[in-house]
Amino acid sequence: MKNLPKTRKVKIHPASLKHIKKGHPWVTADSYTKDFPNGEDFLQVEAGETKLLLLSDPNHPRIKARVWAFGEGRDLRANFPRELKERMTAAFNQRKAMNVSEQRDNFYLCFGEADLLPGLFIQAFGSHVLVQATCNFWVLHKKRIADLIRPLWEEHFPDRKYLNGWWCDRGPNAQSRITSLRQGTSPPDQLVIEEFGVKYHLKPMDAHDPGIYTDMSAIREELFPVLESSKKVLNLYAYTGAYSLIALKKGAEEVHSVDLSQKYIDWLESNLAENPELDASKHTSHCSSVEEALKKFKASGEKFDLIICDPPSASSDGKKMGRVTDSYPRDLPLMNSLLNEGGKIVAFVNTHAMSWKKFNSNFDDIIKNKNLKLKSLDILKLRKDCPLKGGFQEGDYLKGRVFERFE
Ligand SMILES: C[S@@+](CC[C@H](N)C(=O)[O-])C[C@H]1O[C@@H](n2cnc3c(N)ncnc32)[C@H](O)[C@@H]1O
Repeated sequence: MKNLPKTRKVKIHPASLKHIKKGHPWVTADSYTKDFPNGEDFLQVEAGETKLLLLSDPNHPRIKARVWAFGEGRDLRANFPRELKERMTAAFNQRKAMNVSEQRDNFYLCFGEADLLPGLFIQAFGSHVLVQATCNFWVLHKKRIADLIRPLWEEHFPDRKYLNGWWCDRGPNAQSRITSLRQGTSPPDQLVIEEFGVKYHLKPMDAHDPGIYTDMSAIREELFPVLESSKKVLNLYAYTGAYSLIALKKGAEEVHSVDLSQKYIDWLESNLAENPELDASKHTSHCSSVEEALKKFKASGEKFDLIICDPPSASSDGKKMGRVTDSYPRDLPLMNSLLNEGGKIVAFVNTHAMSWKKFNSNFDDIIKNKNLKLKSLDILKLRKDCPLKGGFQEGDYLKGRVFERFE
Protein backbone atom coordinates (compact mmCIF):
# COMPACT_ATOMS: atom_id res chain seq x y z
CA MET A 1 0.00 0.00 0.00
CA LYS A 2 2.90 2.30 0.89
CA ASN A 3 4.43 2.11 -2.61
CA LEU A 4 1.26 2.98 -4.48
CA PRO A 5 1.64 6.06 -6.64
CA LYS A 6 -0.63 8.97 -5.80
CA THR A 7 -3.92 8.98 -7.69
CA ARG A 8 -4.49 12.29 -9.46
CA LYS A 9 -7.77 14.00 -8.61
CA VAL A 10 -10.04 15.29 -11.37
CA LYS A 11 -13.36 17.06 -11.52
CA ILE A 12 -16.18 15.77 -13.68
CA HIS A 13 -19.25 17.55 -15.03
CA PRO A 14 -22.23 17.45 -12.61
CA ALA A 15 -24.28 15.85 -15.41
CA SER A 16 -21.69 13.03 -15.73
CA LEU A 17 -21.87 12.45 -12.00
CA LYS A 18 -25.65 12.31 -12.11
CA HIS A 19 -25.60 9.67 -14.86
CA ILE A 20 -22.85 7.70 -13.11
CA LYS A 21 -24.96 7.54 -9.96
CA LYS A 22 -27.73 5.99 -12.09
CA GLY A 23 -25.40 3.30 -13.44
CA HIS A 24 -23.84 4.93 -16.49
CA PRO A 25 -20.14 3.99 -16.41
CA TRP A 26 -18.60 6.54 -18.81
CA VAL A 27 -17.08 10.00 -18.59
CA THR A 28 -17.28 11.37 -22.12
CA ALA A 29 -15.24 14.25 -23.55
CA ASP A 30 -16.37 17.69 -22.36
CA SER A 31 -14.89 20.89 -20.97
CA TYR A 32 -13.98 19.09 -17.71
CA THR A 33 -12.11 16.19 -19.33
CA LYS A 34 -9.86 18.71 -21.16
CA ASP A 35 -8.14 19.18 -17.80
CA PHE A 36 -7.63 15.44 -17.17
CA PRO A 37 -3.90 14.66 -16.89
CA ASN A 38 -2.22 12.41 -19.46
CA GLY A 39 -0.11 9.44 -18.50
CA GLU A 40 -2.27 8.32 -15.55
CA ASP A 41 -3.92 4.91 -15.39
CA PHE A 42 -6.37 5.75 -12.58
CA LEU A 43 -8.12 9.01 -11.75
CA GLN A 44 -9.88 9.93 -8.53
CA VAL A 45 -13.07 11.98 -8.37
CA GLU A 46 -14.16 13.68 -5.17
CA ALA A 47 -17.46 15.51 -5.43
CA GLY A 48 -18.83 16.28 -1.99
CA GLU A 49 -19.53 12.97 -0.28
CA THR A 50 -19.06 11.01 -3.51
CA LYS A 51 -15.72 9.42 -4.26
CA LEU A 52 -15.00 7.48 -7.41
CA LEU A 53 -12.09 5.68 -9.03
CA LEU A 54 -11.94 5.97 -12.81
CA LEU A 55 -9.97 4.03 -15.41
CA SER A 56 -8.31 6.63 -17.60
CA ASP A 57 -8.23 6.51 -21.43
CA PRO A 58 -6.95 9.94 -22.51
CA ASN A 59 -6.42 9.00 -26.16
CA HIS A 60 -9.93 7.67 -26.69
CA PRO A 61 -11.71 10.11 -29.00
CA ARG A 62 -14.89 10.18 -26.89
CA ILE A 63 -14.79 8.10 -23.70
CA LYS A 64 -12.08 9.67 -21.57
CA ALA A 65 -12.60 7.53 -18.48
CA ARG A 66 -14.76 4.66 -17.18
CA VAL A 67 -15.98 4.01 -13.68
CA TRP A 68 -14.22 1.27 -11.76
CA ALA A 69 -15.82 1.75 -8.33
CA PHE A 70 -17.21 4.18 -5.82
CA GLY A 71 -14.90 4.83 -2.87
CA GLU A 72 -11.50 6.04 -1.80
CA GLY A 73 -9.03 5.80 -4.68
CA ARG A 74 -6.10 4.68 -2.55
CA ASP A 75 -7.97 1.66 -1.16
CA LEU A 76 -9.53 0.79 -4.48
CA ARG A 77 -6.16 0.90 -6.21
CA ALA A 78 -4.63 -1.36 -3.61
CA ASN A 79 -7.50 -3.81 -4.11
CA PHE A 80 -7.52 -3.57 -7.89
CA PRO A 81 -5.78 -6.92 -8.66
CA ARG A 82 -8.08 -8.79 -6.27
CA GLU A 83 -11.18 -6.98 -7.45
CA LEU A 84 -10.31 -7.62 -11.11
CA LYS A 85 -9.94 -11.32 -10.37
CA GLU A 86 -13.27 -11.34 -8.51
CA ARG A 87 -15.12 -9.59 -11.32
CA MET A 88 -13.65 -11.88 -13.97
CA THR A 89 -14.46 -14.92 -11.83
CA ALA A 90 -18.05 -13.72 -11.40
CA ALA A 91 -18.34 -13.26 -15.17
CA PHE A 92 -16.96 -16.77 -15.86
CA ASN A 93 -19.28 -18.22 -13.17
CA GLN A 94 -22.30 -16.69 -14.87
CA ARG A 95 -21.39 -18.14 -18.27
CA LYS A 96 -20.79 -21.56 -16.77
CA ALA A 97 -24.17 -21.45 -15.01
CA MET A 98 -25.85 -20.63 -18.34
CA ASN A 99 -24.39 -23.78 -19.95
CA VAL A 100 -23.75 -21.75 -23.11
CA SER A 101 -20.60 -23.73 -23.85
CA GLU A 102 -22.68 -26.90 -24.34
CA GLN A 103 -24.41 -25.39 -27.37
CA ARG A 104 -21.70 -23.32 -28.97
CA ASP A 105 -17.95 -22.76 -29.11
CA ASN A 106 -18.43 -18.99 -29.34
CA PHE A 107 -19.70 -17.17 -26.30
CA TYR A 108 -18.82 -14.11 -24.29
CA LEU A 109 -16.94 -14.71 -21.05
CA CYS A 110 -16.93 -11.01 -20.16
CA PHE A 111 -19.18 -8.44 -21.75
CA GLY A 112 -17.57 -5.17 -20.74
CA GLU A 113 -19.61 -2.71 -18.73
CA ALA A 114 -22.40 -5.20 -18.00
CA ASP A 115 -19.86 -7.39 -16.16
CA LEU A 116 -18.40 -4.34 -14.39
CA LEU A 117 -15.31 -4.67 -16.55
CA PRO A 118 -15.72 -1.48 -18.57
CA GLY A 119 -14.30 -1.71 -22.07
CA LEU A 120 -13.12 -5.31 -21.63
CA PHE A 121 -14.75 -7.97 -23.81
CA ILE A 122 -13.60 -11.57 -23.75
CA GLN A 123 -15.01 -14.09 -26.20
CA ALA A 124 -14.44 -17.82 -26.35
CA PHE A 125 -13.85 -19.29 -29.81
CA GLY A 126 -13.39 -23.02 -29.42
CA SER A 127 -10.08 -23.53 -27.65
CA HIS A 128 -9.13 -19.89 -28.00
CA VAL A 129 -10.20 -16.61 -26.53
CA LEU A 130 -10.35 -13.18 -28.09
CA VAL A 131 -9.83 -10.26 -25.72
CA GLN A 132 -11.07 -6.96 -27.12
CA ALA A 133 -10.02 -3.93 -25.13
CA THR A 134 -12.04 -0.93 -26.21
CA CYS A 135 -10.56 1.06 -23.30
CA ASN A 136 -6.80 1.42 -23.53
CA PHE A 137 -6.40 1.33 -19.74
CA TRP A 138 -6.47 -2.47 -20.10
CA VAL A 139 -3.37 -2.53 -22.30
CA LEU A 140 -1.36 -1.85 -19.13
CA HIS A 141 -2.88 -4.98 -17.59
CA LYS A 142 -2.65 -7.33 -20.56
CA LYS A 143 -0.36 -9.80 -18.78
CA ARG A 144 -2.46 -9.76 -15.62
CA ILE A 145 -5.59 -10.55 -17.66
CA ALA A 146 -3.82 -13.26 -19.69
CA ASP A 147 -2.62 -14.84 -16.43
CA LEU A 148 -6.17 -14.82 -15.05
CA ILE A 149 -7.90 -16.22 -18.15
CA ARG A 150 -6.12 -19.54 -18.40
CA PRO A 151 -6.78 -20.82 -14.82
CA LEU A 152 -10.32 -19.44 -14.88
CA TRP A 153 -10.95 -21.22 -18.16
CA GLU A 154 -9.49 -24.50 -16.89
CA GLU A 155 -11.54 -24.29 -13.71
CA HIS A 156 -14.84 -23.40 -15.42
CA PHE A 157 -14.61 -25.35 -18.67
CA PRO A 158 -12.48 -28.41 -17.84
CA ASP A 159 -13.83 -30.30 -20.87
CA ARG A 160 -12.51 -27.64 -23.22
CA LYS A 161 -8.82 -27.60 -23.83
CA TYR A 162 -7.42 -24.07 -23.65
CA LEU A 163 -4.88 -23.40 -26.38
CA ASN A 164 -4.22 -19.69 -26.59
CA GLY A 165 -5.76 -16.30 -26.91
CA TRP A 166 -5.29 -13.16 -28.86
CA TRP A 167 -5.61 -9.61 -27.77
CA CYS A 168 -7.03 -6.75 -29.78
CA ASP A 169 -6.72 -3.09 -28.83
CA ARG A 170 -6.68 0.24 -30.57
CA GLY A 171 -3.35 1.58 -31.80
CA PRO A 172 -2.43 5.29 -31.89
CA ASN A 173 -4.17 5.81 -35.26
CA ALA A 174 -7.28 3.97 -34.08
CA GLN A 175 -6.32 0.89 -36.11
CA SER A 176 -6.69 -2.54 -34.43
CA ARG A 177 -3.57 -4.13 -33.01
CA ILE A 178 -3.60 -7.90 -32.61
CA THR A 179 -1.13 -9.75 -30.46
CA SER A 180 -1.02 -13.17 -28.91
CA LEU A 181 -1.73 -13.62 -25.20
CA ARG A 182 1.19 -16.03 -24.91
CA GLN A 183 4.50 -14.47 -25.79
CA GLY A 184 6.33 -15.99 -28.70
CA THR A 185 3.20 -17.46 -30.30
CA SER A 186 0.89 -16.07 -32.92
CA PRO A 187 -2.84 -16.53 -33.40
CA PRO A 188 -3.85 -19.14 -36.00
CA ASP A 189 -4.71 -17.77 -39.44
CA GLN A 190 -7.94 -19.69 -39.45
CA LEU A 191 -9.97 -21.90 -37.14
CA VAL A 192 -13.29 -23.68 -37.27
CA ILE A 193 -15.87 -23.32 -34.51
CA GLU A 194 -19.36 -24.72 -34.03
CA GLU A 195 -22.49 -22.77 -33.10
CA PHE A 196 -25.63 -24.89 -32.54
CA GLY A 197 -24.15 -27.75 -34.53
CA VAL A 198 -23.13 -25.61 -37.53
CA LYS A 199 -19.45 -25.05 -38.34
CA TYR A 200 -17.97 -21.66 -39.23
CA HIS A 201 -14.55 -20.55 -40.44
CA LEU A 202 -13.09 -17.77 -38.35
CA LYS A 203 -10.15 -15.49 -39.09
CA PRO A 204 -8.74 -14.45 -35.72
CA MET A 205 -6.34 -11.95 -37.25
CA ASP A 206 -9.37 -9.89 -38.32
CA ALA A 207 -10.35 -9.41 -34.69
CA HIS A 208 -13.09 -6.86 -35.42
CA ASP A 209 -14.46 -9.07 -38.11
CA PRO A 210 -13.58 -12.65 -37.18
CA GLY A 211 -16.49 -14.17 -39.12
CA ILE A 212 -19.34 -14.52 -36.65
CA TYR A 213 -21.35 -12.12 -34.51
CA THR A 214 -21.41 -13.77 -31.11
CA ASP A 215 -23.69 -11.08 -29.68
CA MET A 216 -26.33 -12.48 -32.10
CA SER A 217 -25.89 -16.10 -30.99
CA ALA A 218 -28.42 -16.10 -28.14
CA ILE A 219 -30.91 -14.29 -30.39
CA ARG A 220 -30.40 -16.90 -33.11
CA GLU A 221 -31.27 -19.51 -30.49
CA GLU A 222 -34.35 -17.58 -29.43
CA LEU A 223 -35.48 -17.63 -33.05
CA PHE A 224 -35.33 -21.44 -33.40
CA PRO A 225 -39.16 -21.82 -33.31
CA VAL A 226 -39.52 -19.20 -36.07
CA LEU A 227 -36.79 -20.87 -38.14
CA GLU A 228 -38.29 -24.34 -37.62
CA SER A 229 -41.65 -23.20 -39.01
CA SER A 230 -40.19 -21.49 -42.12
CA LYS A 231 -39.63 -23.45 -45.31
CA LYS A 232 -38.46 -20.63 -47.57
CA VAL A 233 -36.10 -18.09 -46.01
CA LEU A 234 -34.50 -14.86 -47.23
CA ASN A 235 -31.46 -13.63 -45.30
CA LEU A 236 -30.66 -9.98 -46.04
CA TYR A 237 -27.20 -8.55 -45.17
CA ALA A 238 -26.17 -12.18 -44.80
CA TYR A 239 -22.47 -11.62 -43.92
CA THR A 240 -20.86 -15.10 -43.48
CA GLY A 241 -24.26 -16.78 -43.43
CA ALA A 242 -24.97 -17.58 -39.78
CA TYR A 243 -28.72 -17.05 -40.21
CA SER A 244 -28.77 -18.85 -43.57
CA LEU A 245 -26.94 -21.91 -42.26
CA ILE A 246 -29.00 -22.20 -39.09
CA ALA A 247 -32.16 -21.89 -41.22
CA LEU A 248 -30.99 -24.88 -43.29
CA LYS A 249 -30.10 -26.74 -40.12
CA LYS A 250 -33.59 -26.09 -38.77
CA GLY A 251 -35.25 -27.59 -41.83
CA ALA A 252 -35.64 -24.81 -44.41
CA GLU A 253 -36.09 -26.16 -47.94
CA GLU A 254 -34.94 -23.04 -49.75
CA VAL A 255 -32.66 -20.29 -48.42
CA HIS A 256 -31.51 -17.14 -50.24
CA SER A 257 -28.67 -14.99 -48.88
CA VAL A 258 -28.05 -11.42 -50.02
CA ASP A 259 -24.87 -9.47 -49.35
CA LEU A 260 -23.16 -6.68 -51.22
CA SER A 261 -19.69 -8.03 -50.53
CA GLN A 262 -18.24 -10.84 -52.65
CA LYS A 263 -15.75 -11.48 -49.83
CA TYR A 264 -18.56 -12.38 -47.42
CA ILE A 265 -20.49 -14.34 -50.04
CA ASP A 266 -17.34 -16.43 -50.65
CA TRP A 267 -16.90 -16.85 -46.89
CA LEU A 268 -20.56 -17.94 -46.58
CA GLU A 269 -20.04 -20.49 -49.36
CA SER A 270 -16.94 -21.87 -47.63
CA ASN A 271 -18.94 -22.15 -44.39
CA LEU A 272 -21.60 -24.05 -46.28
CA ALA A 273 -18.96 -26.41 -47.72
CA GLU A 274 -17.70 -27.01 -44.17
CA ASN A 275 -21.15 -28.44 -43.31
CA PRO A 276 -21.77 -31.19 -45.89
CA GLU A 277 -24.87 -32.41 -44.03
CA LEU A 278 -26.58 -29.12 -44.96
CA ASP A 279 -27.82 -29.58 -48.52
CA ALA A 280 -26.06 -26.79 -50.44
CA SER A 281 -28.47 -27.21 -53.37
CA LYS A 282 -31.15 -25.64 -51.16
CA HIS A 283 -29.10 -22.43 -50.87
CA THR A 284 -28.60 -19.54 -53.30
CA SER A 285 -26.21 -16.62 -52.81
CA HIS A 286 -26.94 -13.19 -54.27
CA CYS A 287 -24.06 -10.74 -54.38
CA SER A 288 -26.17 -7.61 -54.60
CA SER A 289 -27.46 -4.64 -52.65
CA VAL A 290 -30.53 -5.46 -50.60
CA GLU A 291 -32.55 -2.85 -52.46
CA GLU A 292 -31.77 -4.39 -55.86
CA ALA A 293 -32.36 -7.93 -54.61
CA LEU A 294 -35.76 -7.05 -53.11
CA LYS A 295 -36.85 -5.41 -56.36
CA LYS A 296 -35.77 -8.45 -58.37
CA PHE A 297 -37.58 -10.87 -56.05
CA LYS A 298 -40.70 -8.75 -56.34
CA ALA A 299 -40.50 -8.62 -60.14
CA SER A 300 -40.18 -12.41 -60.31
CA GLY A 301 -43.05 -12.97 -57.88
CA GLU A 302 -40.99 -14.82 -55.23
CA LYS A 303 -42.63 -15.35 -51.82
CA PHE A 304 -40.96 -16.25 -48.53
CA ASP A 305 -42.02 -17.60 -45.14
CA LEU A 306 -39.31 -15.69 -43.31
CA ILE A 307 -37.19 -12.63 -44.10
CA ILE A 308 -34.31 -11.77 -41.78
CA CYS A 309 -32.90 -8.29 -42.09
CA ASP A 310 -29.82 -7.33 -40.07
CA PRO A 311 -28.26 -4.26 -41.69
CA PRO A 312 -25.04 -2.65 -40.46
CA SER A 313 -25.60 0.64 -38.63
CA ALA A 314 -24.29 2.52 -41.66
CA SER A 315 -25.15 0.71 -44.86
CA SER A 316 -23.85 1.21 -48.35
CA ASP A 317 -25.59 0.41 -51.62
CA GLY A 318 -22.16 0.18 -53.22
CA LYS A 319 -22.25 3.86 -54.15
CA LYS A 320 -23.33 5.90 -51.15
CA MET A 321 -23.51 5.38 -47.41
CA GLY A 322 -26.82 5.79 -45.67
CA ARG A 323 -28.17 5.32 -42.19
CA VAL A 324 -30.04 2.12 -41.52
CA THR A 325 -33.07 4.17 -40.52
CA ASP A 326 -33.22 5.47 -44.10
CA SER A 327 -33.49 1.98 -45.57
CA TYR A 328 -36.46 0.54 -43.64
CA PRO A 329 -39.10 2.95 -45.00
CA ARG A 330 -37.99 1.82 -48.47
CA ASP A 331 -37.37 -1.87 -47.74
CA LEU A 332 -40.06 -2.87 -45.22
CA PRO A 333 -42.94 -2.45 -47.74
CA LEU A 334 -40.91 -4.48 -50.27
CA MET A 335 -40.27 -7.20 -47.69
CA ASN A 336 -43.94 -7.20 -46.78
CA SER A 337 -44.88 -7.74 -50.42
CA LEU A 338 -42.57 -10.79 -50.56
CA LEU A 339 -44.19 -12.61 -47.63
CA ASN A 340 -46.55 -15.53 -47.79
CA GLU A 341 -49.60 -15.18 -45.57
CA GLY A 342 -48.47 -15.91 -42.01
CA GLY A 343 -44.88 -15.23 -43.10
CA LYS A 344 -42.56 -13.38 -40.75
CA ILE A 345 -40.04 -10.57 -40.85
CA VAL A 346 -37.24 -10.37 -38.30
CA ALA A 347 -35.86 -6.82 -38.49
CA PHE A 348 -32.86 -5.50 -36.58
CA VAL A 349 -31.20 -2.20 -35.95
CA ASN A 350 -27.67 -2.27 -34.62
CA THR A 351 -27.02 1.06 -32.95
CA HIS A 352 -27.20 2.54 -29.48
CA ALA A 353 -27.88 5.93 -31.04
CA MET A 354 -31.56 5.04 -31.46
CA SER A 355 -33.69 4.55 -28.35
CA TRP A 356 -36.13 1.66 -28.07
CA LYS A 357 -38.95 4.15 -28.21
CA LYS A 358 -37.73 5.59 -31.50
CA PHE A 359 -36.93 2.14 -32.88
CA ASN A 360 -40.47 0.92 -32.16
CA SER A 361 -42.21 4.05 -33.36
CA ASN A 362 -40.19 4.06 -36.62
CA PHE A 363 -41.52 0.61 -37.50
CA ASP A 364 -45.05 1.36 -36.26
CA ASP A 365 -45.14 4.52 -38.39
CA ILE A 366 -43.97 2.73 -41.54
CA ILE A 367 -46.57 -0.01 -41.02
CA LYS A 368 -49.33 2.54 -40.45
CA ASN A 369 -48.36 4.98 -43.19
CA LYS A 370 -47.82 2.31 -45.83
CA ASN A 371 -50.82 0.29 -44.68
CA LEU A 372 -48.75 -2.89 -44.30
CA LYS A 373 -50.50 -6.01 -43.06
CA LEU A 374 -47.93 -6.74 -40.39
CA LYS A 375 -48.60 -7.43 -36.76
CA SER A 376 -45.92 -7.26 -34.13
CA LEU A 377 -45.12 -10.59 -32.43
CA ASP A 378 -42.01 -10.05 -30.35
CA ILE A 379 -39.01 -7.90 -29.57
CA LEU A 380 -35.42 -9.14 -29.56
CA LYS A 381 -32.55 -7.74 -27.50
CA LEU A 382 -29.14 -8.72 -26.17
CA ARG A 383 -29.37 -11.53 -23.66
CA LYS A 384 -27.68 -14.50 -21.98
CA ASP A 385 -23.90 -14.18 -22.33
CA CYS A 386 -24.37 -10.57 -23.55
CA PRO A 387 -26.25 -9.02 -20.63
CA LEU A 388 -27.51 -5.46 -20.34
CA LYS A 389 -26.66 -2.94 -17.64
CA GLY A 390 -29.34 -0.68 -16.19
CA GLY A 391 -28.76 3.02 -16.90
CA PHE A 392 -26.33 2.26 -19.76
CA GLN A 393 -28.17 2.85 -23.02
CA GLU A 394 -25.03 2.47 -25.15
CA GLY A 395 -24.80 -1.17 -24.09
CA ASP A 396 -28.35 -1.83 -25.32
CA TYR A 397 -27.45 -1.45 -28.99
CA LEU A 398 -29.00 -4.51 -30.63
CA LYS A 399 -32.73 -4.09 -31.21
CA GLY A 400 -35.00 -6.40 -33.11
CA ARG A 401 -38.66 -7.02 -33.85
CA VAL A 402 -40.57 -9.99 -35.22
CA PHE A 403 -43.58 -9.22 -37.44
CA GLU A 404 -46.17 -11.54 -38.99
CA ARG A 405 -48.13 -10.91 -42.14
CA PHE A 406 -51.90 -11.24 -41.90
CA GLU A 407 -54.53 -10.99 -44.63
C1 LIG B 1 -24.08 -6.61 -39.50
S1 LIG B 1 -23.52 -7.60 -40.82
C2 LIG B 1 -24.78 -8.84 -40.76
C3 LIG B 1 -24.51 -9.93 -39.74
C4 LIG B 1 -25.35 -11.19 -39.93
N1 LIG B 1 -26.76 -10.90 -39.83
C5 LIG B 1 -24.97 -12.24 -38.91
O1 LIG B 1 -25.62 -12.35 -37.85
O2 LIG B 1 -24.00 -12.97 -39.16
C6 LIG B 1 -23.90 -6.57 -42.19
C7 LIG B 1 -23.59 -7.12 -43.61
O3 LIG B 1 -24.27 -6.25 -44.53
C8 LIG B 1 -23.53 -6.16 -45.75
N2 LIG B 1 -24.04 -4.95 -46.44
C9 LIG B 1 -23.81 -3.64 -46.16
N3 LIG B 1 -24.56 -2.85 -46.94
C10 LIG B 1 -25.28 -3.67 -47.76
C11 LIG B 1 -26.28 -3.45 -48.75
N4 LIG B 1 -26.68 -2.22 -49.08
N5 LIG B 1 -26.84 -4.52 -49.35
C12 LIG B 1 -26.43 -5.78 -49.03
N6 LIG B 1 -25.53 -6.05 -48.06
C13 LIG B 1 -24.96 -5.01 -47.42
C14 LIG B 1 -22.09 -6.16 -45.29
O4 LIG B 1 -21.24 -6.61 -46.34
C15 LIG B 1 -22.15 -7.13 -44.08
O5 LIG B 1 -21.81 -8.43 -44.48
